[in-house]
Amino acid sequence: MFRLDGRIALITGAATGLGAATAVALASQGASVVVSDKPGESLERTLDEAAQHGGRVLATPLDVRDNDQQAAAVRIAVEAFGRIDILVNNAGINRPATGLDVTEQIWEEHFATNVRGGFFLAQKIAPFMIERGWGRIIWISSQSGLVGIPGQPVYCGTKGAVIQVVRTLGLEWAKHGITVNSVAPTFVETKMTSRRLNIPEFLNFVLNKIPAHRLAMPQEIAAAVVFLASEEAAMVNCHTLSVDGGWTAW
Ligand SMILES: NC(=O)c1ccc[n+]([C@@H]2O[C@H](COP(=O)([O-])OP(=O)(O)OC[C@H]3O[C@@H](n4cnc5c(N)ncnc54)[C@H](O)[C@@H]3O)[C@@H](O)[C@H]2O)c1
Repeated sequence: MFRLDGRIALITGAATGLGAATAVALASQGASVVVSDKPGESLERTLDEAAQHGGRVLATPLDVRDNDQQAAAVRIAVEAFGRIDILVNNAGINRPATGLDVTEQIWEEHFATNVRGGFFLAQKIAPFMIERGWGRIIWISSQSGLVGIPGQPVYCGTKGAVIQVVRTLGLEWAKHGITVNSVAPTFVETKMTSRRLNIPEFLNFVLNKIPAHRLAMPQEIAAAVVFLASEEAAMVNCHTLSVDGGWTAW
């Protein structure tokens, strides 16, 4: 089950963290992967690890905030592999600032990266999926889209927006054989979170909120993406799959 042989996947923000783990997991299930990240971010490690599974791999620069780069990356992927079956909108930023400290720039940057980028990338790729009557669009949202977390109101706002976009695009595109879902992780130690998780008080706050009493592993998030990308998940649509050890059940 959950094999992805013959599928072509494009993953954003794949240089590191959850994006890298997801690219490797998709490759290990047989997918060909196009890994992307902001220009200047090295994709070499992800590419090497993904290639070890024997499938085809390709790297392309893609700052998701930039419409021209989106179009170029889609063109490169389609020229190389003929189509894109699976889009993983993983690229994201989280620069914590309390409600009193948020600037307009922080607001714009978060929405441009976490919401607008993935939306217009999906809009560019969906026509290829519609043509073939099959597609999987998977966002990495967050538990922060389901509950509030003090100190990051804008990030929480973007992830809540992602969950609503997912619901609505899933409704619109279901008739074309496309599912649109998201995975909502709890805290995982990555570049995005390691500085905060190294503060003992913050780590304690986090662990006390997770009934499983541990952080999630990147591979556990990637496994949820693999499931949503698979044929077996054809009837899972408009859904946000929590991988949070129970945080949001309180
Ligand atoms: N780590 C966690 O605890 C956690 C929890 C819930 C959700 N998430 C979400 O998972 C996703 C991946 O986060 P991560 O923890 O791996 O973080 P990370 O910082 O390790 O990786 C994020 C990647 O996105 C890339 N990126 C940033 N801005 C970009 C842009 N404009 N265009 C293209 N790429 C861009 C970065 O270069 C980086 O490689 C994000 O959407 C994040 O919000 C993370």
